[in-house]
Amino acid sequence: MNDYPSKLRIASIQRVAQDVRLFTLVDPEGSALPEFTAGSHIELLLANGLGRSYSLFNAPSETACYQIAVHNSPTGTGGSRYMHEALNEGDVVSVTGLRNHFPLHEEAPDTCFIAGGIGITPLMAMAQRLNTLGKRWELHYCARTPDHAAFVSELRALAEASGNALHCHFDQIPGGQPLDISHLVQTRTADTHLYCCGPNGMLNAFETATAHLRDRSHVEYFSPKAEAALDGGFAVELARSGKTLQVAPGQTILEVVTAAGVNVQTSCREGICGSCETRIISGEADHRDSILTPEEQAENTTMMICCSGAKTSKLVLDL
Ligand code: FES
Repeated sequence: MNDYPSKLRIASIQRVAQDVRLFTLVDPEGSALPEFTAGSHIELLLANGLGRSYSLFNAPSETACYQIAVHNSPTGTGGSRYMHEALNEGDVVSVTGLRNHFPLHEEAPDTCFIAGGIGITPLMAMAQRLNTLGKRWELHYCARTPDHAAFVSELRALAEASGNALHCHFDQIPGGQPLDISHLVQTRTADTHLYCCGPNGMLNAFETATAHLRDRSHVEYFSPKAEAALDGGFAVELARSGKTLQVAPGQTILEVVTAAGVNVQTSCREGICGSCETRIISGEADHRDSILTPEEQAENTTMMICCSGAKTSKLVLDL
């Protein structure tokens, strides 16, 4: 998706759950924003130099604003804390991308969403899109307590308006039980598409439960599922700029390429946003991203150079 605004103004900030704030972003000049597809995320470049990606959760056809919800995670790497503590209504933020690596399969007759905590955001945009299309969906929303779950009343209204189903699973209230993902997956119909976004433990359980359903199961990670490849000891040849560079132990390809003066678009730098995706011309990548499917990684046609390395002594990249 190449059409996105370079700047957005924060029109409002609201608390919507414990440690979760909703940011409503508008065009600084008041213009309409480009439509987006359900599952898209926006990439922000924060004034502290960090790039961060956040899923858009409002209705994809809405052009007056984009809305994101940010969880201030105690284990985060600084982006969410900056969003919560340093930004105010009226501030203008820089945008470096609007992408969708978590597309909705609108043709599916049935859709089952599984959300954990702030992972609700892309799925909320999808539920709104399916309502527009008049399609069936069910949503299983997991959180510790009701106070940790953003947008429950809005989701309930979406479900009631369309005859669809919202099931909340709060596992830290008296009598609360965690969602049995394996049982849920096994009991869906054979043409149901399943989507999961949440913490890595939930995503791992979902991927295990849906390993035999690859074409109908879809995940989005918001923290990396693998360590970056930092073994080094290989060369990267940049086909377009005619440079050959050595990647030493402790370095990522992105760091080496950037230090050589080659401009690469980046945001998360941890393999979850897709902005640094680069075409592989030859050589075999050591994929460590959380975006490409195992099949796409095996095809070895593109790689995320912020986190992935090489299994061969040389990679030739389309840079
Ligand atoms: S910068 Fe986000 S995947 Fe590489």
